[in-house]
Amino acid sequence: MNTFAQDILEGLRRNPKRLPSKYFYDETGDRLFQQIMHLPEYYLTRCETEILETHKDALLQSMQGNAFDLIELGAGDGLKTKILLQHFWAQGADFRYAPADISPHVLQLLETGVRALLPDLEIISRQGDYFVNPAAVLPPGERRKLVLFLGSNIGNYTQPGASELLRRIAAQLRPGDLLLIGFDLKKKPSVVLAAYNDAAGVTRDFNLNLLRRINRELGGNFDLNAFEHWPTYNPQTGDCKSYLLSRGAQTVELKAIGEAIHFNEWDAVQTELSRKYDLNDIENVATEAGFRIREHYLDARRYFADSLWERL
Ligand code: AVI
Repeated sequence: MNTFAQDILEGLRRNPKRLPSKYFYDETGDRLFQQIMHLPEYYLTRCETEILETHKDALLQSMQGNAFDLIELGAGDGLKTKILLQHFWAQGADFRYAPADISPHVLQLLETGVRALLPDLEIISRQGDYFVNPAAVLPPGERRKLVLFLGSNIGNYTQPGASELLRRIAAQLRPGDLLLIGFDLKKKPSVVLAAYNDAAGVTRDFNLNLLRRINRELGGNFDLNAFEHWPTYNPQTGDCKSYLLSRGAQTVELKAIGEAIHFNEWDAVQTELSRKYDLNDIENVATEAGFRIREHYLDARRYFADSLWERL
């Protein structure tokens, strides 16, 4: 049984049930996520674009004219990163771009897009799960590092998971290396909820697509109409959790691995955690993982923070 099958089976056998959100990103999932980033309700991408536009020069200055590797974990389609790449290149910075992503498809798209924009920029892309093995997705060499972990990807980890990931990243860096990390900030709950419950239903389809992927890869017979997308937000913890609810009692078969899973009526499968932080939370995770905060860059509405950390 491959890792996907093991993870899915383990998640569906749990009580309560859950599915790992990292498996959203097959080809259809990549496309739906790109649509999400342009939705009116999904403020995160626009906020971070504003931050990078405003502070791109300060970020370059933070490398103090040294040659460096610009490493991006969970690069996706690199929409926002192109702002930095173009600025750094135009300023004559000596840098290589090293994007890493779990999706080979999106990485290919990214490379093609960046090459069209900056044909002479050296790109070292790596496909892989940076949580499992951050060392494997980092480029070799002794250059200084500026690691980007944008888009609130950190929000998709539980508190212990985020701490563990940040410690693993820190272990790959040397004192003085920098990490720019995007956090979606706690805000009016209705604003958060709308971002995960858009009127056009794209986020619903993004969640349901995971069931489609299981059908395809594990010979499943999930009926997508038998599940309802249900996002929630807890303003105390900052946890924005999405669920798929079983509309009725049903048993789903996974023929390719000879398994069946029973769902009671209104059984909830957690599909995603998108955790929201405040500046205190950010300071705690940074210190705990061995970083010093250099700067918090916020958008005008204070919805989002790109926080610049230095490895101690
Ligand atoms: C990739 N990640 C940071 C997104 C988020 O906001 O948690 C994924 C997403 N899920 C629903 N909409 C977007």
